[in-house]
Amino acid sequence: MRKLIYLFAIMATTLMGIGEASARKLHIVPEPAYIDMATEGEFVVTGKTKIVVWDDMWSVADIFAEEMMEYFNLKKPMATGKRGTGIKIRTDRFVPEEGYEMTISEEEGVLIIGGTERGVFYGLQTLKQMIVETDGHLPYCFIADEPNFKYRGVHMDVCRHFFPVEDVKRYIDILAAHKVNRLHWHLTDDQGWRIQIDAYPELTEKGSMRKETLTSHGLNPISWDGTPHGGYYTKEDIREVIDYAAKRYITIIPEIEMPGHAQAALHALPWLGCEEQEVDVWTCWGVTPEVMCAGKETTYTFLENVLLEVIDLFPSELIHIGGDECPKDRWKECEHCQAKMKELGLENEEQLQGYLVARIEKFLNAHGRQMIGWDEILDGGVTPTATIMSWRGTEGGIYAAKRGNDVVMTPLKFCYFDFYQTESREGEGLLIGGHTPFEKVYGWNPYEGLSNDERKHIIGVQCNLWSEYLKNMEMLERQLLPRLAAMSEVQWATERRDESTIREKMEVLRRYYDSRGWNYAPYYFEGRK
Ligand code: ACM
Ligand code: ZN
Repeated sequence: MRKLIYLFAIMATTLMGIGEASARKLHIVPEPAYIDMATEGEFVVTGKTKIVVWDDMWSVADIFAEEMMEYFNLKKPMATGKRGTGIKIRTDRFVPEEGYEMTISEEEGVLIIGGTERGVFYGLQTLKQMIVETDGHLPYCFIADEPNFKYRGVHMDVCRHFFPVEDVKRYIDILAAHKVNRLHWHLTDDQGWRIQIDAYPELTEKGSMRKETLTSHGLNPISWDGTPHGGYYTKEDIREVIDYAAKRYITIIPEIEMPGHAQAALHALPWLGCEEQEVDVWTCWGVTPEVMCAGKETTYTFLENVLLEVIDLFPSELIHIGGDECPKDRWKECEHCQAKMKELGLENEEQLQGYLVARIEKFLNAHGRQMIGWDEILDGGVTPTATIMSWRGTEGGIYAAKRGNDVVMTPLKFCYFDFYQTESREGEGLLIGGHTPFEKVYGWNPYEGLSNDERKHIIGVQCNLWSEYLKNMEMLERQLLPRLAAMSEVQWATERRDESTIREKMEVLRRYYDSRGWNYAPYYFEGRK
């Protein structure tokens, strides 16, 4: 049936055009699966064009109508209605779930058919780029599109620097335009606890504020800014963000770090530590030895109570439990941890972490959720049902995929967007390190080292944006853009990337970024890498 629709559309668009082969081209990021351009004819979209909504998908239509207000310089959103001509949107089960088919022709005006409303939403993202590229003079064409990966993620660190709700929404807008469908929200860490938990108000009362912030690399010389920094999200804030994201087909995966990266929690609740030690919310970056005690039952009760509230708030099936970078120094000296190891017959502290992770996974599963964690959760032995987020490289992900675990690939070399974008680092300010220019992201093959069968376990790809040296949205956006465009090609258009056209496409996308008022780094456009 789908093939028939394609064929019909190809015939229709070919018949429309006469004469020589057309030089008409569209530049869409990420690259659609199929584009057929008619040789002539155009449909003009203006601020007066109506959005005709067939399947009651008013929210999808309203978001588009509002976003185009600024572009067309309107006083109110574009009109929407159930009848008429203009941009028609509807669904059809013969189109893939996240896919869409767009026909632009004399008969149809603009017709977008999504497999679901989600597919229509992605069709409208494509349409917005086309409107900006052609200034509303849309060439007759047929586009059929669908993504390669079902998990297309971007991470946001609100612990190292806090970003208020309005910033998170702006971040979500940027993700949606790149057809991303997961926001991995890193909500707890050594430098700040950012999510209200009713059972433990101290977490945000005390754990959300640090005395000051490291402004050097912590080497020589070392310097702090002397300014308190903090903030947190109330449950109301979080519901608002979840709802905003859901309307843009983005699932928020909350991350609650355990047992490491927990110094802010230990500051608020010292009994979480092995020796009930008094510690500050951390003012440095890196890895601290102050971690949760894995021997005391009170730690497990705490984690379960926190997760119950997290589950209650977030509809996401996957819940991220961190698990990375947990030094075992305190555990080696702790009577509770050592007693627990003895009781369980464990040989070393890695296995104790494995026990904690497996116990938490069971808890999540009992509450209808699935666990995802950084690749360190492989070290203590992992269950076959956990999803692995491979960050230290792809080796962990490859190992996990071969064992049958689901994997999200996010190796730091290609996917850490806190890294520098140029070799010279000129004009980039102080960043964490590394070197990941646009081209490196674009050229990355997330399937490398895997057989066809094993590939099926790579459910997706994600880029991570840690905010140690990123204090505000402008800085965050310059790290994210334009590299997110390269990442979206890896996520959505994996096997149809084309190095010979990407630069031309990016020059067009840049105008789209300008139209949205988003900040982006200039280096790729200057030919610097
Ligand atoms: C990580 O970058 N520590 C996951
Ligand atoms: Zn302990």
